Amino acid sequence: MASTHGAHGILVASNRGPITYQTQDDGSLHAKRGGGGLVSGLSAIGPDADALWVCAALGDGDREAVRRGVGEDGVRMLDIDAEVHADAYNGIANSVLWFVHHMLYQTPLEPVFDAEFRRQWDAYRAYNRAFAEALAEEAAEGASVLVQDYHLCLVPGLLRALRPDLRIGHFSHTPWAPVDYFRMLPDDIRAELLDGMLGADRLAFLTWRWATAFLDCAAEIAPERYRVTPASEASRSVEHLDGAAPARTLVGVHGLGADAEFLRARSHEADVEERIVALREEIGEGRRTIVRVDRTELSKNIVRGMLAYRQLLDDRPEWRERVVHVAFAYPSRQDLAIYRDYTAEVQRVADEINSSYGTPGWTPVVLHVKDDFARSLAAYRLADVALVNPIRDGMNLVAKEVPVVSDEGCVLVLSREAGAYEELGEDAVSVNPYDIVGTARALHEALAMQPGERAERTKRLAAAATALPPAQWFLDQLHALEA
Ligand code: G6P
Repeated sequence: MASTHGAHGILVASNRGPITYQTQDDGSLHAKRGGGGLVSGLSAIGPDADALWVCAALGDGDREAVRRGVGEDGVRMLDIDAEVHADAYNGIANSVLWFVHHMLYQTPLEPVFDAEFRRQWDAYRAYNRAFAEALAEEAAEGASVLVQDYHLCLVPGLLRALRPDLRIGHFSHTPWAPVDYFRMLPDDIRAELLDGMLGADRLAFLTWRWATAFLDCAAEIAPERYRVTPASEASRSVEHLDGAAPARTLVGVHGLGADAEFLRARSHEADVEERIVALREEIGEGRRTIVRVDRTELSKNIVRGMLAYRQLLDDRPEWRERVVHVAFAYPSRQDLAIYRDYTAEVQRVADEINSSYGTPGWTPVVLHVKDDFARSLAAYRLADVALVNPIRDGMNLVAKEVPVVSDEGCVLVLSREAGAYEELGEDAVSVNPYDIVGTARALHEALAMQPGERAERTKRLAAAATALPPAQWFLDQLHALEA
């Protein structure tokens, strides 16, 4: 068997990889690199580690790159059948698992787990199997494999069956559903998900709140097979009672932090300075700003944020003309109708506020939908208040990034349902994301905060936000898996 093993000692698996390709008009392929915690983590272990990142081809450009054999060292893209990928990614990952973990269903009418759902579930299985097979092929004897997120919950179990010699870890970047909500899934499906995850040697989450929810699910769903015990101060263990490997799965937490060094340098480059000038022009002289920057994920709560802003203008008319809500809402997952509708609703509510409250010299909501990282950093720097009010969020890095780059201190209005709340709650103004009147009150409190207190809080927020920078976050997981 050993001769069929691959050469890589460290492997990462995720749906979205570090690079995407676009086919240009002249037929050539243009590569675009992404950022994020995994990218910094892998660069921190250096080229000698001979790591491999296994990801899915997402668009036509990626598929073309795979077919032409174009690629980067250290990255293997899987050209999974486009329909299988769409059913797994759009149908299951983003329409079912995302909804379950963020508790987004309107339960009188959904979810409906019908025959179509079962068909998509088969695709989710096939897509997970494709990852497991590629990893099994590429991994050296005893290699460490770090599997990412809700797209790939079945990979640990499938991979263990193929390669019992590997050390397998899984990291969840989202919340985990409370047990009563998780129970909505059909019995066999929730068991398959948990068994898939528990094929790992180690599972990790962004906060203890999500880790505990997972442990509650494991303990409740198959008590004859799984028993939860404390393993150490920093981890818990799920003992496997049925004798199947692994004998136990450790569960730990790594709260991904902001990359201070990168953000501080990047936010002072010339393109960001230019965006600051342009934004100031749009906002108008001497006005305060309430800034938000999100992808239009259904869990971000952008619409209620605008309703709360409107409530503020009603309850505290003294803020009219004196404040602007700067909202950047970058479209995501637009293949799905519900995400498109949500993006449209954000635009509609912004327009409505502008037409009812706006004056010739004042646009109450400045909404931008075209993703522009330099402009996001510009908004971070000049924000007086940052509004981060998700319904539920694994961590929320915007909450951590704003205090790090803020020029003059910024008050963070933060949902208690964001993972970041565990670390930042004390120095933020906290909100219940469903409470419009309460959020309007929090916005007023934030706008009215004295500069001294605001600066002090920002300093403490920035320190807490950078406690575990991305490279260290990644290395900690790797070392815990290897220990
Ligand atoms: C959010 C989540 C991540 C997830 C990502 C996928 O940012 O926090 O857990 O991996 O979405 O986004 P995508 O654009 O690939 O669907």
